[in-house]
Amino acid sequence: MTKVQVKKAVIPAAGLGTRFLPATKAIAKEILPIIDKPAIQFIVEEAIAAGIEDILIITGKGKQEIEDHFDANFTLEQNLKAKGKEKLLKLATETSNLNIHYTRQHHPRGLGDAVRHAKAFIGNDPFLLLLGDDIIRGENLSKQIIDLYAKKRQTVIAGVRVDPDKTKNYGILAIEKTATPHVFQVLDMIEKPQDQPSSNMAAAGRYILEPTIFSILDQLEVGATGEVELTDALIELQKTHPLLAYEYQGEWFEVGDAKGMLKASIIFAIDHPEVKEEFIPYLKNLAEKFENE
Ligand code: UTP
Repeated sequence: MTKVQVKKAVIPAAGLGTRFLPATKAIAKEILPIIDKPAIQFIVEEAIAAGIEDILIITGKGKQEIEDHFDANFTLEQNLKAKGKEKLLKLATETSNLNIHYTRQHHPRGLGDAVRHAKAFIGNDPFLLLLGDDIIRGENLSKQIIDLYAKKRQTVIAGVRVDPDKTKNYGILAIEKTATPHVFQVLDMIEKPQDQPSSNMAAAGRYILEPTIFSILDQLEVGATGEVELTDALIELQKTHPLLAYEYQGEWFEVGDAKGMLKASIIFAIDHPEVKEEFIPYLKNLAEKFENE
């Protein structure tokens, strides 16, 4: 079998971000920073480090800042150059020369509908789908599932283990072990299960999909939520094509609401070369204070 390289990625970013109101009333949630870097830049960097060459971002109304962020900013660059601020200039320009393409979802009709907008860009190629709410810390999850796809040539859904008490908040995968460590066969997917599901593996916002997904998405009706759900398309796909789940061993943060963003911000502050020196002692002091209360 010749090796299939996944070179295209899709990042849907057209959602309304209502869980993060009021911050998202006038600002795209993807632009909200983790410390000093917009959440979507983490996603783009992960994709590029995984070998992706072209990225399609699905935007929508009020998301212009995303395009501006990945564009050149001439005035800012001239200003930093004139002042000899080389380090800042590097930060301001490192996101300007990437192969990022855009298309707009005119109505926020759900993740499945957003993915459908990638059909022309994808053509006949397999692709990486990354959801902007899901940030990872550790090994490059996109690279891991790209490598798995190259070996198996089957749709891959990345998963993470969540607290069994919290499964009702996630899309949960019903799975069966395979002979390969961390790789499972997907038997079913349940969006926010109210009863205790058979596993605690949640979909982690990274997928390797094949173009077959588009014809399934095209046939799907808008669900009870008024949205076209990607999960529904994957359940349909599973009837005719085996789906794999890959269990991520690193840390996973959901930054689509304030609590998740705060947790991610604290952890990434501990990693940040210019922030950690002051922040770690601050956190330690805070922890001592709480212990003594
Ligand atoms: P979410 O379920 O987080 O929806 O979407 P949302 O609208 O962004 O946020 P809330 O729930 O209102 O707070 C998961 C991913 O799918 C994208 C989002 O941008 C996010 O990356 N999405 C969702 C779209 O691109 N279009 C949609 O119509 C819905």
